Amino acid sequence: MAVHVANHPLIKHKLGLMREKDVSTKDFRDLSSEVARLLTYEATKNLETETQTIQGWAGDVDVERIKGKKITIVPILRAGLGMMDGVIDLIPSAKVSVVGFYRNEETLQPVQYYVKTASAMEKRTALILDPMLATGGTLIATIDLLKESGCTKIMGLFLVAAPEGIAKVEEKHPDVDIYVAAIDERLNEVGYILPGLGDAGDKIFGTK
Ligand code: URA
Repeated sequence: MAVHVANHPLIKHKLGLMREKDVSTKDFRDLSSEVARLLTYEATKNLETETQTIQGWAGDVDVERIKGKKITIVPILRAGLGMMDGVIDLIPSAKVSVVGFYRNEETLQPVQYYVKTASAMEKRTALILDPMLATGGTLIATIDLLKESGCTKIMGLFLVAAPEGIAKVEEKHPDVDIYVAAIDERLNEVGYILPGLGDAGDKIFGTK
């Protein structure tokens, strides 16, 4: 698995603003979207293109178009929705496949409670969205279900990742590339990333 850490001053600056203790809901939401947009630019740089001949203003002209079926983005409920607008700004024709999981408190395993995927998943590149790659459990379950639906080209975009989560996903799905704004130090005893962002879902939705 290739792990790409976005080494861009704008991303570092924006993530720094998101880490402030009293960041407002509006700012956190706007920044999630902005960082997602910048990560999308990075993650899509190797998409295949094909040449098409179109009628330009002075006659026929060859242009490049992204090859294949439209990309599907896959926000993981609920916090992944906070990255969606930024990604759609750059890929307006993307199809949206939504997945949701809760944690079984006995087994601690993610249990799927919602899934609605785009058609013809086997022909699409999937871009999973979640602000936090923490333990990796939900991401592994999401990749499992995308692969079961036939998807073979899968990438993930995250604002902050924990080394423990990356290692777990790498072991199970070494073929999936991930793009992150930062890799932080570690998980705490209840699975939060340190120094991290706190509860990204609550901060995006203004809850709690
Ligand atoms: N989910 C969050 O919102 N924050 C973390 O630190 C880990 C998981």
